[in-house]
Amino acid sequence: MKLWGGRFTKETNRLVDAFNASISFDRRLYRQDIRGSIAHVTMLARQQILTDHEKEDIIAGLSGILADLDDGSLTIDESCEDIHSFVEATLIERVGDVGKKLHTGRSRNDQVALDMKLYVRDEVSELSGLVKQLLETLLSTMKEHTETYMPGFTHLQKAQPLTLAHHLGAYFEMFSRDQGRLSDIFRRMNYCPLGAGALAGTTYPLDRAYTAQLLDFEGPTLNSMDSVSDRDYLIELLSAMSTIMMHLSRFSEEIIIWNSNEYQFVELDDAYSTGSSIMPQKKNPDIAELVRGKTGRVYGALMSLLTTMKGLPLAYNKDMQEDKEMTFDAIDTTKHCLLLFTGMLSTARFKKDRMKKSAANGFTNATDAADYLVNHGVPFRDAHGIVGQLVLYCIEKNIALEDMTLEEFKDISPVFEQDIYEAISLKTCVEKRITMGAPGKEAMEQVIRQYETYLNQLES
Ligand code: ARG
Repeated sequence: MKLWGGRFTKETNRLVDAFNASISFDRRLYRQDIRGSIAHVTMLARQQILTDHEKEDIIAGLSGILADLDDGSLTIDESCEDIHSFVEATLIERVGDVGKKLHTGRSRNDQVALDMKLYVRDEVSELSGLVKQLLETLLSTMKEHTETYMPGFTHLQKAQPLTLAHHLGAYFEMFSRDQGRLSDIFRRMNYCPLGAGALAGTTYPLDRAYTAQLLDFEGPTLNSMDSVSDRDYLIELLSAMSTIMMHLSRFSEEIIIWNSNEYQFVELDDAYSTGSSIMPQKKNPDIAELVRGKTGRVYGALMSLLTTMKGLPLAYNKDMQEDKEMTFDAIDTTKHCLLLFTGMLSTARFKKDRMKKSAANGFTNATDAADYLVNHGVPFRDAHGIVGQLVLYCIEKNIALEDMTLEEFKDISPVFEQDIYEAISLKTCVEKRITMGAPGKEAMEQVIRQYETYLNQLES
């Protein structure tokens, strides 16, 4: 059944119907659609646009449709144009002519804007919950590893030693910013478009504030044209999800490197790894690779919607129907990735010994050796040169700085004394990094306490 047959004298072309229809993907909005309709008729009756009796019949019909869709006894008829048409047609079929009053003072333009907002608002909350779980996993892993030494890298070259807690803390920062973006989006989008009509409001005395209140919005939107043509909140969400995916992807890349035979910093749990059909020895980090790979489709959804929106005149245009499929896919993808990544991280086994050994090799304490000289009066630039010589010497002999004898140190610079060994030990190198935000244990523990407070005040 069509909602708009009246002014047409011909059937639409079959291909046009198929091309125009959105029911194959907007069917997932049925709960939001029915919830919005119930709020709408409740308001209509309060404004005496419908009688209480009519309201009750319509609500009973809609509630029945919802229950039957939920339990599967009613299936969505995909020959309808969209979910709005299906719900309305089914209502009329079930409750008769009174059902035809549901759409009073409403257009599918404000209806779909509402449905999408209701859907996305719930998804933003779910995404927040998943990011929170990831943050909790990160924090508990950090607490276990404030003394797990590992090399820190720049250019993927060993740079200075730090701890696993510190490395994971960088991701805590990233995901807490993501969390902040999600709550900003929620706050900004939480205004109700229903009552905007097709674009110019309606002549019925609707109480938009009341509908907004029934649907848990902050209030009604203030411009009816913008209400039906605003998709900013979707673009913001796609952008926030793209950033989440970018963070997950960087983290995945590190996990893949750390899980490689060469590094062996981490061993992924069997439950989160996969094998090879031909090479029996293989245990592959497929989850991390897939998370890294799926980042592309979320970016794609963002670019797609930005491009769809860029030339649209006010107000509603059918182009906007293209906001759904990729947004749904991006939401599903990001949620799955967050869930799986958190599972993978919480079951991963970090190999402290391998990390420590790696931190001890590769001259990650070279800066500290230079600082030692500086503390003994050598200008930093000279100290840099001296330690460069030490490093060259060690590379030739295939040893670490701390393997050199004191005589060898002194041959290169007489300033060195016995306490150089203490000064360049891994523990000292890390613990001496005491500035706020640095890996030293005390600084780290202070930050961990702040993270705990932060997590406690996040709503779950
Ligand atoms: N399926 C449409 C969409 O997703 C619903 C709105 C249709 N409005 C209209 N005037 N054709 O955007």
